[in-house]
Amino acid sequence: MMVVSASAPAKVILFGEHAVVHGQPAIAIPVKTLRARVQARPAPQGQGLSIHVPAFRQRLSVPQEAAKDESTLVMAARLTLQRLGLHQLPDLTLRLDSNIPLGSGLGSGAAVCTAIARALAEALQQPLDNDSLNALVYEVEKLHHGTPSGIDNTVIVYEKPIVFQRGLAIEALRVAQPLLLLVGDTGRSTPTYITVGDVRSLHEKDPARTTPIFERIGALTRSARQLIEQGNSRAQLGRLMNENHSLLQRLTVSSVELDVLCEAALEAGALGAKLSGGGRGGNMLALVEPHNAEKVLQILKRAGAKRVVKTRLSPTHE
Ligand code: PMV
Repeated sequence: MMVVSASAPAKVILFGEHAVVHGQPAIAIPVKTLRARVQARPAPQGQGLSIHVPAFRQRLSVPQEAAKDESTLVMAARLTLQRLGLHQLPDLTLRLDSNIPLGSGLGSGAAVCTAIARALAEALQQPLDNDSLNALVYEVEKLHHGTPSGIDNTVIVYEKPIVFQRGLAIEALRVAQPLLLLVGDTGRSTPTYITVGDVRSLHEKDPARTTPIFERIGALTRSARQLIEQGNSRAQLGRLMNENHSLLQRLTVSSVELDVLCEAALEAGALGAKLSGGGRGGNMLALVEPHNAEKVLQILKRAGAKRVVKTRLSPTHE
């Protein structure tokens, strides 16, 4: 058996996080420069299936049956075997390497599970199509993140910009004009299930306050989609990002660090800035023009960003 490699990208949410959990649309895009990579190699006979994560000096063996407190990696591998109808463990080692920061809203969890399931299925010469892979990764996300909308696994598995709305078919987002974004990491993080849970409590306590916010975020997301698909004004798109950020502040999911980075980016000439993902830490996004990307990047670092990644959303035909 040969060595098989598979990978999956990181992602960011461009518009609509949190409101998406409550039925509104959201836009998510892959960040292809940050990736989880898995290599599947044959292991000595009888060794069974194991996952090796050199960055954490971890070796996990995958049992046939689900164990209590199973890690997401093991679960992804086990569900893949189940999905392929394999009742015996193959003798394989899966080596996982990833440059996606953990727990910061970049979809690390979904990306590592996708890469594991993809590499394993390919090594067993039964590659999974994207629809099956997506359903499998969503199962893992559900067990570990409470009530995920499904946006992370979808954008990561298909590796294309998408418009996602719960209960509706996923739609591809056509990109008419290139967009350049900076992803700035606050270096802090709050698990997404906490912020999602807090927004849900807020909503249950005072729906008259939160419903119009969700609806306005939905409307912004639809307008943003039109602008991106028609290649219209980037300045207008930036303004929509700013408004989306203020609405997320009202949902209590921003933080001092996120606000400082967004303000710094805007002062340095970014067209728009907002938090991205679960919030209260994690990452923010700034929409920039190529000529001032470097300046905004440096200013974000000076304002405390622990790392800034440039990502380009390319026109669909490229
Ligand atoms: O995984 P994150 O931190 O990018 O957040 C996901 C986006 C939320 O809308 C907050 C939650 C969800 O499941 O859609």
